[in-house]
Amino acid sequence: MTTSSPGPTDTDTMLVRGGRPVDGEIAVRGSKNALPKAMVAALLTTERSRITNISAIRDIDVVDELIRLAGGTVSQDTDEITITAPTFDALGEDDIMRLHAASRIPVLTTAVSLHRTGHAVVAAPGGCSIGPRPVDYHLDVLRAFGARDDHRGDIIELRVDRMRGARVALPFPSVGATEQFLFASVLAEGDSELTNAAIEPEILDLIAVLQKMGAIISVEPNRTIRVTGVDGLGGFEHRVIGDRLEAASWASLALATGGTITVHGVQQQLLSTFLNVYRRAGGEFSIDAAGETLTFRRARRMLRPLALETDVHPGFMTDWQSPFVTALTQAEGVSVVHETVYEDRLGYTEALRSLGAQIQVFTECLGPTRCRFGAANHRHSAVVVGPTRLHGAELVVPDLRAGFSYVIAAASAEGESLIHGVDLLDRGYGNFRTKLAAVGVDHT
Ligand code: EPU
Repeated sequence: MTTSSPGPTDTDTMLVRGGRPVDGEIAVRGSKNALPKAMVAALLTTERSRITNISAIRDIDVVDELIRLAGGTVSQDTDEITITAPTFDALGEDDIMRLHAASRIPVLTTAVSLHRTGHAVVAAPGGCSIGPRPVDYHLDVLRAFGARDDHRGDIIELRVDRMRGARVALPFPSVGATEQFLFASVLAEGDSELTNAAIEPEILDLIAVLQKMGAIISVEPNRTIRVTGVDGLGGFEHRVIGDRLEAASWASLALATGGTITVHGVQQQLLSTFLNVYRRAGGEFSIDAAGETLTFRRARRMLRPLALETDVHPGFMTDWQSPFVTALTQAEGVSVVHETVYEDRLGYTEALRSLGAQIQVFTECLGPTRCRFGAANHRHSAVVVGPTRLHGAELVVPDLRAGFSYVIAAASAEGESLIHGVDLLDRGYGNFRTKLAAVGVDHT
């Protein structure tokens, strides 16, 4: 887009005027991928639980509605959520279909529902469209604990009398399947073991919640988690960890535009892998004494290209990939990216090409790891040639992190960009437009 326009009339569309310096401060709050799981944990007890460091993200409303439909009470204010679920009623199929289609979180209530009612229903889960995102590992976990499943079209019905401790090995360290295992094992009879578990900080935060509730969980070397089931769990109070994915997104915006952004509310340790890569690419950061305020900026005029492979924790997170790769369009030389967590997380690069980026996508594994997508012909590697002068374009947001990448690209580009579907960003970036204004991205 080259002509100047007064701004979009549709609230789901944003006009970004790029090429201007970005400078400002924002505060991130409770992690999008930890907060709703703490809410689910609160359903494992009849006692009251209190969660603080709340952010205004859509998944909270989905879990809030689910809890109310199940007969619990939820009270929310700007910083805390209080949950009490003295009873847990089975949800109707229509509600289940709707809630599961809206988010990836409701599927995590399956083990909870089995504990509390002996029955659960699963429908195809929603969330961002970054690959098929099946639930087969979740079902394998629940079957290992004794649940029997019955499939009817898009609905899977599960039943169990009492879940019994189990030994489970995951084919891949899935975050969701590890959480399902934790919810199942803490109240199962006897001991359980999960190998090839995910150990993301958000999972360790959930384990901290469950320990406060009375669970016995140990995280052992080589991705092994051991749990001794208990007869009952109590309420808890918990401050959720800061959002390391959101922090990295704003850091990438500073890197791409050559501006400075200070991010409050996230711990340095949660970002250590990201920070190393950031520095290698020519970014710089300073950190306060408490390690909870980080200021990001470009250290040199031209960014350095690099080879990047996403991985499960403690590797470079898949959710950091698209914002960071968008910044790499401004690096001098050839960067190579290998996405090993999701088979379809490079679709956004096509839109970046419409702004002038030089990015090509490949089916080969362009990285040291032979991942499960290479043989399956998925377009999961990319080569980025930079630096490229980006120009404004019209874009449609396909998923949360790609959406932020489009904003980064639009802010780095000369001229105006029109981005449709920006409401999707509310799924993971609380008060998104206010924060954009706070760092000086010119938008309406
Ligand atoms: N997988 C299966 N079968 C399963 C479960 C997972 O094949 O039953 C595969 C997935 O298709 C994917 C891989 O395993 O290829 C990893 O998926 P995982 O289960 O770890 O992801 P998730 O629990 O659905 C969470 C986050 C994602 C984040 C991933 C990886 C939440 C709500 N979502 O998803 O966050 O990318 O872990 O860290 O916690 C985001 O924030 O933008 C986002 C997508």
